[in-house]
Amino acid sequence: MPDTTMHKQRRDRLLQKMQRGIAIIPTAPEAVRNGDAHYPYRYDSHFYYLTGFDEPEAVLVLVAGTKPQSVLFCREKNMEREIWDGHRHGPDAAKEAFGFDAAFPIAQLDDKLAGLMGNQPALFHPLGAHAVWDDRILALRARVQAQARSGITAPNEIHDVRMLLDEMRLIKDSEELSTMRRAAAISTVAHIRAMRATHPGRMEYEIEAELLHEFRRNGAPAPAYTPIVAGGANACVLHYVGNNAVLKDGDLLLIDAGCEVDGYAADITRTFPVNGKFSAAQKDVYEMVLAAQAAAIAAVRPGAHWNEPHDAALRVIAQGLIDLKLCSGSMDAVLEGEGYKRFYMHRTGHWLGMDVHDVGAYKLEDNWRVLQPGMTLTVEPGCYIRPAEDVPQAFWNIGIRIEDDVAITAEGCEVLTEDAPKTVGAIEELMDQFVAAAYSK
Ligand code: GLY
Ligand code: MN
Ligand code: MN
Repeated sequence: MPDTTMHKQRRDRLLQKMQRGIAIIPTAPEAVRNGDAHYPYRYDSHFYYLTGFDEPEAVLVLVAGTKPQSVLFCREKNMEREIWDGHRHGPDAAKEAFGFDAAFPIAQLDDKLAGLMGNQPALFHPLGAHAVWDDRILALRARVQAQARSGITAPNEIHDVRMLLDEMRLIKDSEELSTMRRAAAISTVAHIRAMRATHPGRMEYEIEAELLHEFRRNGAPAPAYTPIVAGGANACVLHYVGNNAVLKDGDLLLIDAGCEVDGYAADITRTFPVNGKFSAAQKDVYEMVLAAQAAAIAAVRPGAHWNEPHDAALRVIAQGLIDLKLCSGSMDAVLEGEGYKRFYMHRTGHWLGMDVHDVGAYKLEDNWRVLQPGMTLTVEPGCYIRPAEDVPQAFWNIGIRIEDDVAITAEGCEVLTEDAPKTVGAIEELMDQFVAAAYSK
C-alpha cells in the first residue's frame, strides 16, 4: 500500500484554503507520439501532489465547506485492457489505497459533477491549462445553470486553483525534500560518471547515454528534462539538445542534466575540459563563473529577496568581464548599461520541485519574494562567449554554466548537489585518472 498520508494532508489543506466551493483537478492526458506509439506517460504535477495516483484518465474533485469531501474519478477495472497495458486500481481499490472519501468510474464524471456542482458558490480549476477541460467544465456549469427553475444554482465565481496550489507547492515538506535529495544524489553520481567517461573523440550522445544509464539503474524513471550535452561552441546554444557532435581536444563540455524521482526534479550543470585540463582562458572564465555562483549561494538565506542571489552573481560577473577585458568601464556602468548581457543573458535560477521550472510567484505585488525555509531553487550563473572581432580568440566558443540545487533552511541553505565536483582542482584531479586511463587503452 502506498503511504498516502502526505497527499491526504495536502488535500485537507487545499480544502481549508478554498473555504467553500468545488475544485476539479484533472491529471495529464496521454499523448500520442506517432502512429500507435505514445510518449511515456507523466501525470500532472498538481494532481499527483494531491493524490499520489499515477494512472492517466483520472480527475480529483474536492468539495469544501462544512462537510469536506475528496472524490476520485478513475478508470474502471478492465481485464482485457489490463492484459495489454497493465494494472488499473479501479475506483474501489483506489478509494481504499489512496484515502479518498469516494471514488467513481471516470465515465460517470460529467453526470456526477453536474450533481456535485449544484448549489456550490465557487468553482476552482486550473483555468486555461487545457482548453478541452475549460470547455467541458463550462458546459457542465451551463447544465447546472439550466436547472435554475428547480432552485439549483451554479457556481458564479470561478478561480484558478493554481493560485492556491502553486503557493502550497512552493514550500516543500520533509517528504518532498527527501525525494529531492534522492533525485539530486542520483544526478550527482551521473555527472561524476559522465566526467569519467569523457575524453577527446567520444560523441556527445555517448556521454548522454552514460547519464541516462545512471538515472535508470538507480530507478529514476526519466530525466527531468532533455539533457544538454554540449561540447565546444554548442555550449553557447543555451537550449542545445542535438547531443550528436564529436568531443574535441581543447574544448569544454557543458552538461545540464538531472533525473526525476517520484515526480521531483534535479537540475545540475557542470562544465569541464574534454581532455581533463583547463586552458588558461577557460580557467579564467570558469573561475569567474564559480566565484559568481559562490556569491549567489552565499546570498540564499531566509529573509533575503529572490533577486539577491542573482544580483550577487551579476556583480561578480560584471567585474570579471572587466578584468578579462571583455567589458569596459566601471562595474556600475556595466551593470547599468547591461554590457554583461552579451555574455550572460539568463537569470541565476528558478524554483525547483515537481516541475524543473517549478511553480510559485517570484514577485508578490511589486516586490521580489522573500526567501523562506522549505523553498528550493537552482543557482546557475554562466558565461557564453561567441566568436567576435572584439573578443580575443582564446575566449571564442567558451560556454560555461555551473548549476546547483539549493534548499533554504532555517539557518541558510543546503546545497543538495554539492558532491558533484566543481572546483578546477577537483575536476582536473578526477579527470586526470580517467582520461589518462582512456588514452592508455
Ligand atoms: N535545465 C533547465 C534549466 O537549467 O533551467
Ligand atoms: Mn535550471
Ligand atoms: Mn539546468
